[in-house]
Amino acid sequence: MNAEEKLQKCFESIRRKTDFVPEIGIILGTGLGSFADEIQTEKIVNYSELEYFPISTVSGHSGRFIFGKFMGKNIVIMQGRVHYYEGYDMTDVVLGVRIINLLGAKKLILTNAAGGINQNFSKGCIMAISDHISTFVPSPLRGKNIDMLGERFPDMSMVYDENLLNIAKSAAKKNNIDLKIGVYAQAQGPNYETPAEIRMFKALGADAVGMSTACEAMAAKHAGMNILGISCITNMAAGLNSEILSHTDVKQTAKNIAGNFKTLLRTILEEI
Ligand code: HPA
Repeated sequence: MNAEEKLQKCFESIRRKTDFVPEIGIILGTGLGSFADEIQTEKIVNYSELEYFPISTVSGHSGRFIFGKFMGKNIVIMQGRVHYYEGYDMTDVVLGVRIINLLGAKKLILTNAAGGINQNFSKGCIMAISDHISTFVPSPLRGKNIDMLGERFPDMSMVYDENLLNIAKSAAKKNNIDLKIGVYAQAQGPNYETPAEIRMFKALGADAVGMSTACEAMAAKHAGMNILGISCITNMAAGLNSEILSHTDVKQTAKNIAGNFKTLLRTILEEI
């Protein structure tokens, strides 16, 4: 079955469960899933209930779509995402983003845990993504173009929406949160990078590194969505200090940032 047929099947199986039309989609990254408690839930669909939908295998990620309202706005949350390093094809990795688009959402907020590369960052800070480097992972647009989503050769000169970025900046200011702005590089994972790789990413202009998001943003941009990306810097990247990286620490730090992160996201959603 090709990517388009799979998408259609998944979309139809979710539509059999709910006719909810979201305005905004949100993907919650590692340790940030608790934001879902803030919305008035109307319907939950587990990924496992959907024909052909890949199941996230990572601890710290549940796997479900949560449909509900926040400040009167219709929202769909993906609590837990699917990563390339889990072994799935890129078209499976971005299936959720494409479903959110087909359900009707035009705006997408992507969140993640990431390692800080910019020396002005520190563990625990929050960065809004201004641009990304996805060159080190395959494009989710590879293969036959899905014409109903977008064109064969989409422009990527402005992946992250300027208006949403400005809303994020003003939301941070309002809450006295020191929001960093920077370039996110996607690595394949699941291993963390070597210090030499981090020096390479730094030389290429990256401010943070993670294992998700850029491919999702690319698929969303292809489909014409307005995208905001937010990274929680859970650690400084390999070699930038003497800390040994571990998923347990990443999850714990993400949980520690979650308070500020939720405040920021709440204010962004109010102002969107
Ligand atoms: N590298 C890649 N992905 C990550 C990191 C990192 O240092 N921290 C959290 N996700």
